[in-house]
Amino acid sequence: MAAILPAGVSASWLRASCPCPSCLDPGSGQRLVNITDQPAEVRFASVTEDAGSYLVTFEPDGHRAVIDKSWLTAALAPAAASRTEDARRLWVAADFPAGPPAGSWPGYGADAGIRASCLEALLTDGFVLLKDVPVTPGTVLDVAASMGFVRETNYGKLFDVRVTADAANLAFTALAIAPHTDNPYRDPVPTVQLLHCLASAAGGGDSGLVDGFTAAGLLRAEDPAAFAVLTGTPVTFRYADATADLQATMPMIGLDPHGRIREVRFNNRSLQPLRSPGPGAADAFYRACRAFAELLARPELMLTFRLQPGDCVVFDNTRVLHARTAFTAAGHRHLQGCYADLDGVASTLAMLHRGGGAGQRAERS
Ligand code: OGA
Ligand code: ZN
Ligand code: ZN
Repeated sequence: MAAILPAGVSASWLRASCPCPSCLDPGSGQRLVNITDQPAEVRFASVTEDAGSYLVTFEPDGHRAVIDKSWLTAALAPAAASRTEDARRLWVAADFPAGPPAGSWPGYGADAGIRASCLEALLTDGFVLLKDVPVTPGTVLDVAASMGFVRETNYGKLFDVRVTADAANLAFTALAIAPHTDNPYRDPVPTVQLLHCLASAAGGGDSGLVDGFTAAGLLRAEDPAAFAVLTGTPVTFRYADATADLQATMPMIGLDPHGRIREVRFNNRSLQPLRSPGPGAADAFYRACRAFAELLARPELMLTFRLQPGDCVVFDNTRVLHARTAFTAAGHRHLQGCYADLDGVASTLAMLHRGGGAGQRAERS
């Protein structure tokens, strides 16, 4: 009798997902029953059909539900694209012969279509460059808030990147910084990073972006043993100062349950010694780490450009590594940065596709 239902619709699946008004609140769409409120061994007692719906009765408790056919089709559709390599457009530098694609901040503010294409670029390419952002301190927070939600950290809502005396971080010197992801010592890691240029250096300080998913995919193809080591070895990243002590332990290349590349953490500044490694394991780990670093340093992978005052680069910090060349002290290079998260960006984009504005803050649910 269940044969009239589409293949794959089992009684346990349909009962656990039942959209009837006693199982699902029609207003909020939230489920009203726990799985333990339902019979463990649920079966179909009867299924009948009309043009738009199925009438289903379950055993053993006689629960009845009208199942809309369009609801069923939507519920059976494949899951929305996840954050893995499969849902992204992977790139090398040559894919952007004219430099990084850029949108204008005034245009972004005025036109929902430009806003959507910038957010789409951030999600699919892993970065977007916005130009003509006012060179006013703090504006990086407005950019972040237009895309999602600012992630405040122990560094505050935003941080300044400029040369300081007694720099506690390589970022606050004029030295080059190799490709890295920020803050791998946080769990969860900030998934979006923004860097807004207020002043550039007289010479140097060029930015570089590397698609870490491309690099990790190359490692998988060229050196599968190294890929296996980096995906299977938890490593600790740590940051400690007078007011914070942060650490997180994760593999450098994170995979989803299907084995697809999902996130990259790479930062030699905060990497801690490998814990309890056997001698062979340590050798294999550092060999793999070197192989990945060499790959990330391949010139053909790095998209290089110079941030001009008013430029704000926004990138997926779980995927795109950023770097800079050394610079001269003259020119008083000054960037302001902040963090945000990809789920907020995806939500903002979904709202744009729905045709609404950012709307009001919701009540929590
Ligand atoms: C940083 C950083 C790059 C730059 O502050 O996280 O990597 O261009 N800065 O100064
Ligand atoms: Zn129900
Ligand atoms: Zn950084």
